[in-house]
Amino acid sequence: DPVALWGGRFAGGPSQALAALSVSTQFDWRLARHDIAGSKAHARVLHRAGLLDDQQFTDMEAALERLDADVASGAFRPDPDDEDVHTALERGLLERAGADLGGRIRAGRSRNDQIITLLRMYLRDEARALAADVLDLAEVLARRAGEAGDAVIAGRTHMQHAQPVLLAHHLLAHAWPLLRDVDRLRDLDRRLDASPYGSGALAGSTLGLDPQAVAEDLGFSESVPNSIDGTAARDVVAEFAFVAAQIGVDLSRLSEEVIIWNTREFGYITLDDSYSTGSSIMPQKKNPDIAELARGKAGRLIGDLAGLMSSLKALPLAYARDLQEDKEPVFDQIDQLHLLLPAVTGMMGTAVFHTDRMAEMAPQGFSLATDIAEWLVRDGVPFRVAHELSGACVRECETQGKELADLTDAELAAIDPRLTPQVREVMTVAGSVRARNGRGGRPPSVSASSSARCAAGSPHC
Ligand code: ARG
Repeated sequence: DPVALWGGRFAGGPSQALAALSVSTQFDWRLARHDIAGSKAHARVLHRAGLLDDQQFTDMEAALERLDADVASGAFRPDPDDEDVHTALERGLLERAGADLGGRIRAGRSRNDQIITLLRMYLRDEARALAADVLDLAEVLARRAGEAGDAVIAGRTHMQHAQPVLLAHHLLAHAWPLLRDVDRLRDLDRRLDASPYGSGALAGSTLGLDPQAVAEDLGFSESVPNSIDGTAARDVVAEFAFVAAQIGVDLSRLSEEVIIWNTREFGYITLDDSYSTGSSIMPQKKNPDIAELARGKAGRLIGDLAGLMSSLKALPLAYARDLQEDKEPVFDQIDQLHLLLPAVTGMMGTAVFHTDRMAEMAPQGFSLATDIAEWLVRDGVPFRVAHELSGACVRECETQGKELADLTDAELAAIDPRLTPQVREVMTVAGSVRARNGRGGRPPSVSASSSARCAAGSPHC
């Protein structure tokens, strides 16, 4: 007969339809080793409370060790009849420890406190792994920024040429959001750092077990202060899902620029062959599929967050089976980001930037008009007037079909006598970029991301 964790009050087994609906091993098996770690910690507090004698405790630990090794090697796997990861592992323990000893492990705990403890442990591990992947990308962007030197690019607002900026400044503007994502992952860890083990189904237990000891065994700083909240709360899971979705959005915004820069019309970058794909019909095609998948998967990552929060909305206290729906969205996010981040990092690390093309485009579209206005302001002209005069220069250029730098001294003087030939000193991209030396206007040290890696406690620091 299949092992079930319940059944005493039931006349028969579950219908096939219920069993098929209920089963979760296809996704929660990834928590198996965390569950065994939880069982080991639980066995220790059962022993300390006198509910396992010394021999029983030793045998229990040995059986759990064997089960863990078999799970790790793949020798032990869930059966189709196992309802969830906990059920499968109870079967595995009964097979190894015998029915009497194996049947003692479940005292004073419930799948309700177990599952959310495991999920918190898993999310803490994954948040660290994700942070390392995100930092790899930030570091590549910082390296590319360092290599870019004084190269310039047309900075845009509304996708229109706005003001020239250093390419390094632009690349680092994609790195900073990633560093904030890492900071969010670190901050989230503080809230994940409490163990619900010992909360039982919702109301703790009468067995005198020590939740704080279990918490410490499992690497948490403390156990949750409220057993109902401990089993019912999923805001920390939703918070993880938000950060994952935000990482997706940040990758998508970077990728959208890569896709545009990679067009024939822009010609700003060439992607490396090893990070590009071809077409099955058009032999000449070389497509930016990584960037497109990043853009597409951002929608999916947001969907995971939205689905999870929709499942949580209006759930009464305490545990309800709806909460089983918390896992697939975050597992999907984790899997997708682990695929995506190394690909985007490789794409950005190997792309060739055509800085000559960027430099050629940077002054076009009257992107130095603001510099003319600010030059007039430094000469004592009110900005409102300076804005009008610079705008008049643009209008004149548009009529004549030329760029600002092509205006003659006579044409400038005709617009306003205050536009003396000295204004030309700000009418170059290099001069414009050099003048923007205030805080925020230039890339700060490009080692920004390595210091964030150290702050994030990375072993690669
Ligand atoms: N598999 C469930 C989950 O993921 C945990 C089991 C709790 N089941 C129950 N009937 N109380 O949330």
